[in-house]
Amino acid sequence: MLVCNVVGARPNFMKMAPVVHELRRRSLPQLLVHTGQHYDAAMSQVFFEELGMPEPDVYLGVGSGSHAQQTARVLEAMESICLERRPTLVVVAGDVNSTLAAALAAAKLGLPVAHLEAGLRSRDRSMPEEINRILTDHLSDLLFTTEEDGNRNLRREGISETKICFTGNCMVDSLRRHQDAALARRPWESYRLPPGEYALLTLHRPSNVDSQEQLTRSLDTAAWIAGRMPVLFPVHPRTRQRIEALAPALPDTLCFCDPLPYLSFLGLMARARFVLTDSGGIQEETTALGVPCLTLRRNTERPATIELGTNLLVGDDQNQIRQAVDQICRGEWKQGQIPPLWDGRAAERVVDAIASFSGASRPT
Ligand code: UD1
Repeated sequence: MLVCNVVGARPNFMKMAPVVHELRRRSLPQLLVHTGQHYDAAMSQVFFEELGMPEPDVYLGVGSGSHAQQTARVLEAMESICLERRPTLVVVAGDVNSTLAAALAAAKLGLPVAHLEAGLRSRDRSMPEEINRILTDHLSDLLFTTEEDGNRNLRREGISETKICFTGNCMVDSLRRHQDAALARRPWESYRLPPGEYALLTLHRPSNVDSQEQLTRSLDTAAWIAGRMPVLFPVHPRTRQRIEALAPALPDTLCFCDPLPYLSFLGLMARARFVLTDSGGIQEETTALGVPCLTLRRNTERPATIELGTNLLVGDDQNQIRQAVDQICRGEWKQGQIPPLWDGRAAERVVDAIASFSGASRPT
């Protein structure tokens, strides 16, 4: 038995880390492959360190490029690794280009594939991630879902019930494991932010940052919020390039910083008055923390964060955003509940399923 875990971009690391830890705890043989889709230390290495992940056994170094280039580079390099190391199962996470490419390389060689965070659907095929999700799920033999909606989506698409495992959310395992350490760092102090009285902003989706008009609108919203409370904006490399080109005039209370390490960001989220984001994972992390989240998108593949959690979709509707911020400031936001199986033990269920799929016995 050899389980090959593939990661590539920042949001993969916190989903895969608990699985890597659990496989190691049970002494099950594994190989960790990093595709190198994210390569800056701030987007990759620091996450490995803070999540206690081992150094990757294999680094593919694919770097940036168009979707086709990035996907093709991972596909080709993963094929060689699979032929060389002959894993008995390839595990991929989330919905980035590396996820689809690694799954496709393995499936074409007849190797079984497991997908962490299967079944999520935004029903918006203009998002590259939606295409990655659908294709990865249809290539997979084990589909680990995080919420009920994911199970329904997979059934509707004709995926056999025997392949679907409702295991819960591995990203929440990482959050629970590191939450106390993150708060102990008091990361808000580094930015002179009063705990509970600042907003945290992230923005990186092509639909929000690639058009000048859209980016200007998002920055106007951030500037309006910064008139009410300080806003911290850790800027993704893709967004930084776009903002530099625009050179906007912005208030001092809108504070830009480099992408943050996992623990700093987690601590900042936990003590934010609210979070404004277009990220997928942050919608879930804020629900797990019970912190209000306004999502700058028109759809979400993670409906549990809205139906049960603290999330609201606001798109780019300035009025709706202003009303929601007022509501949060008045303390009238929904409390939210923790979705089923977001209990910090998802990786145990994932590894139970991997072990039984691979014929390994359970530890006593
Ligand atoms: C990718 C994922 C997205 C995820 C996001 C999290 C896809 C299709 N998209 O988007 O789902 O939410 O990661 O961050 O896989 N860059 C750097 N340093 C890096 C990595 C990227 O400077 O370490 C710059 C490059 O100029 C690159 C751009 O950021 O062209 C975009 O990177 P890329 O990996 O293509 O996509 P993301 O926008 O990061």
